[in-house]
Amino acid sequence: MPAEPRSAEPQPAEAKTAASDEALSPARPFLKWAGGKTQLLPALLERAPRAIDTYYEPFVGGGAFFFALAAEPDLAPRRAVLNDMNHELVTTYTVVRDHLEELLTRLEVLSAEYLGGDEEARSTYYYAVRDEQRSAPVEVAARLIFLNKTCFNGLYRVNRQGRFNVPHGRYRKPAILDRPNLEAASRALQNTEVTHGDFEVACADAAPGDFVYFDPPFHPLSDTASFTAYTEGAFSRDDQLRLRWRMDALRERGVSVMLSNSPHEWIVGVYEGAKYRVERTPARRAINSKGDGRGAIDELIVTNDYPRRGQIESLT
Ligand SMILES: C[S@@+](CC[C@H](N)C(=O)[O-])C[C@H]1O[C@@H](n2cnc3c(N)ncnc32)[C@H](O)[C@@H]1O
Repeated sequence: MPAEPRSAEPQPAEAKTAASDEALSPARPFLKWAGGKTQLLPALLERAPRAIDTYYEPFVGGGAFFFALAAEPDLAPRRAVLNDMNHELVTTYTVVRDHLEELLTRLEVLSAEYLGGDEEARSTYYYAVRDEQRSAPVEVAARLIFLNKTCFNGLYRVNRQGRFNVPHGRYRKPAILDRPNLEAASRALQNTEVTHGDFEVACADAAPGDFVYFDPPFHPLSDTASFTAYTEGAFSRDDQLRLRWRMDALRERGVSVMLSNSPHEWIVGVYEGAKYRVERTPARRAINSKGDGRGAIDELIVTNDYPRRGQIESLT
């Protein structure tokens, strides 16, 4: 007769290590997003507040800064509120948080059907998925992740009718199903509220001890370099001013605020001389509307006066 399993038995050492390593593996953004902040992360992390109660990111996009904070033991916020104006994106975050297994199952099918085809079949499959309308949340999320991995340059762009219109990308083996990273992202999202709407409403409840990071659509450095098609609407100069006023109100309430934007002289003028610390830092944009527009480009980081995490490191 087989021995009774003893539930209190300690786990073998290897199993324990593998399980805890997996539990600790940090998430990366699961979508490539125009204006993604991966390259700016060291500069942002060093300027983050020493302690964060609730973290707000009203223009979350791919969420590079959120996932980086969540991976830092000394910075991981207790709670987060993530928001975007892009409805499909917000739906995808909620599905990754709440319906991961169903999403993985759907992505497995999309991945097998797409990767199993030759070049022509893949292209036909891509346009069939791109041109279908879906409303069930898991389908919306699977479609967005699939298109993001297989479209040209991982770009999200919609036409005036709000329809995704990026052509097929022809990558050899796109990672349509990245199970470990989606699992890690789902864990990181467990204590988050995900909202859809305008940035002002999204951070209206922030209180002292909270941190709000604003990464609005990059103000174009020239009239021809604009990329603002994340949603049907554009982000105007009036919106940029509305943002500055919202930051003023939060700052006066004792909230820590940070903004990144283009170093356009008009944007610099909006923040300089207005009780903000305005710094330029080198960054490189991952997606540019012009193929030849890549290369070193400064980014502006604006903060109010709060104790920074980088200051702790410099003391040790
Ligand atoms: C520069 S991207 C954010 C990129 C993000 N930080 C990342 O790492 O991927 C700007 C985002 O703002 C969103 N957006 C545009 N207008 C908005 C508004 N009025 N309120 C909230 N979000 C908006 C866009 O959909 C887009 O995802």
